[in-house]
Amino acid sequence: MRVVVVTNQKGGAGKTTTTMNLAAILAEQARVLVVDVDPQQSTTSWATAAGDRLPFDFAAETDPSNLIRLRSLPYDTILIDTPGNLTDSGILSAALDVSDFAIVPTEPEALCIEPMVRTIRSIIQPRGIPFRVLLSKVDFRVPGQWINARDLLEQLELPMFAGVIRRYKVHADAPIDGSVVTQYRGSRQRWKALEDYRLVAAQLTRILPQSSSVVR
Ligand SMILES: Nc1ncnc2c1ncn2[C@@H]1O[C@H](COP(=O)(O)OP(=O)(O)O)[C@@H](O)[C@H]1O
Ligand SMILES: [Mg+2]
Repeated sequence: MRVVVVTNQKGGAGKTTTTMNLAAILAEQARVLVVDVDPQQSTTSWATAAGDRLPFDFAAETDPSNLIRLRSLPYDTILIDTPGNLTDSGILSAALDVSDFAIVPTEPEALCIEPMVRTIRSIIQPRGIPFRVLLSKVDFRVPGQWINARDLLEQLELPMFAGVIRRYKVHADAPIDGSVVTQYRGSRQRWKALEDYRLVAAQLTRILPQSSSVVR
């Protein structure tokens, strides 16, 4: 069993969207639980809108002392969605302490990179948790956007997922209609949105530590 935390102290980075959509893809082949530890509960309202269409199990937990119990639950993968600021750091610390791996979504804009780097340096690297940055809400029509972000991450020697998550309206609509990326309907974008998260899920499955790293 592996616990994967999705974290970035910057709000709007794509944490909740990434948690829900990776969970949907991983759940096609494994037992998956999503845990919302964000007191703002955006994941919880998305899961509530989905109701029994949600293809994985879901729980909200804001008591730090309860998180250690996650590791004894009968799931293959547990994904934890975390708050977008450090004022709830008790629950965030508890989530990191039980995690084997961290996904750090970020928007590609230069102004978003700095808080993302701070998150990695201050709460992920000191714990020795393996991680990957995930560029999200990428618009390839904006000249240089993706290349500049990628070059900056390379300079900073921060490992990133090979795939990126493009910006599509279908993602922005999903929390309201309670669908996840494997269920999106309508526009052609839904296939591209699904392809993006499939690539990332495949890489995640390959790189997740074979043995637990939690005995730190
Ligand atoms: N790939 C994407 N394309 C378009 N909109 C997105 C994408 N990812 C997230 N969003 C939207 O951006 C906003 C912030 O995303 P969210 O996943 O809630 O970030 P966080 O959990 O880090 O605050 C939400 O309105 C969400 O619907
Ligand atoms: Mg969120």
